[in-house]
Amino acid sequence: MMTDRSGAPVVVGVDGSATALDAVRVAAREAVARHRPLRVVHAFLWPVLGTPLGPVVATLPHEDLRREADKLVAEAVDEARKVDADLPVTGVARDGGAVAVLLEESRDAALLVLGHRGLGGFAELLVGSAAVGLSARADCPVLVVRGEPRADGPVMVGVDGSALSTEAIGFAFAEAAQRGADLVAVHAWLYPAPVGPGDIVPLVYDPEQLRAEEERVLAEAVAGWAERYPEVRVRRKLVAGAPAPVLVAESADAQLVVVGAHGRGSLGGLLLGSVSHAVLHHARSPLAIVRHRRGHAAS
Ligand SMILES: Nc1ncnc2c1ncn2[C@@H]1O[C@H](COP(=O)(O)OP(=O)(O)OP(=O)(O)O)[C@@H](O)[C@H]1O
Ligand SMILES: [Mg+2]
Repeated sequence: MMTDRSGAPVVVGVDGSATALDAVRVAAREAVARHRPLRVVHAFLWPVLGTPLGPVVATLPHEDLRREADKLVAEAVDEARKVDADLPVTGVARDGGAVAVLLEESRDAALLVLGHRGLGGFAELLVGSAAVGLSARADCPVLVVRGEPRADGPVMVGVDGSALSTEAIGFAFAEAAQRGADLVAVHAWLYPAPVGPGDIVPLVYDPEQLRAEEERVLAEAVAGWAERYPEVRVRRKLVAGAPAPVLVAESADAQLVVVGAHGRGSLGGLLLGSVSHAVLHHARSPLAIVRHRRGHAAS
């Protein structure tokens, strides 16, 4: 089913954390650049009574909780208006869990923006559960913000040569064009090596020939998009190594990293490929995860 997203908003999820407010500023800039409205959404769970641990005492009457939720949304809307007073911004507090509510929002959104963490209490957590769940399942591209974003550095995209990363490459070109940034297309590759007994590898191979083959994969993946965005300066980068560590290392210099939700090794059941998963947790820059939409022309 083709969803018409021509008037679709940029949606940002807020939970009252400072990280979510960083996400609001980024989302506002994205909305301005894309000529789209911004929609601020807070998912709001009423305290549940009668858990297995015994009745939960709600310390605040429901009216007060509702008011707190509305106030949190209003603050986020103000933050967005500080970025651009002319940006159309709406805010809403919706009943439900963060993942369920924002998943639904993602159906009609052009882009979903989240902080990498929220109010959750586990200090060691690199990425919160809402951010993880939505990166894997949202119906639109997800931008996970980490701290105050930088405006220098290139946009970087991970290329594995599969059709599944086509949309990610297109998204990266659009972002680079919109930000006036260079684009670095990174393709990590490894020489074939036996990883276990019985593995079959060619006894003789020509490293130069293999490298040339990987060069070709990278060049072909980028070529079509480069034609559509002639104003974007593209650098192709072939790096020897496993994709996840390579992309994480490269992310240090980027203002944005873009990956597909799945890659060449895609296992049907996995919501997020292993490389996307690792980069989501360890990237040092903001990260966009772009799902391949079955049956959709990449555009
Ligand atoms: N209730 C919510 N309503 C709207 N957006 C939310 C909500 N909770 C989280 N988010 C969004 O998701 C981002 C990441 O928050 P997340 O909840 O994943 O991390 P956390 O709170 O640190 O971890 P966890 O909740 O798993 O303990 C937030 O910055 C915010 O953008
Ligand atoms: Mg949370």
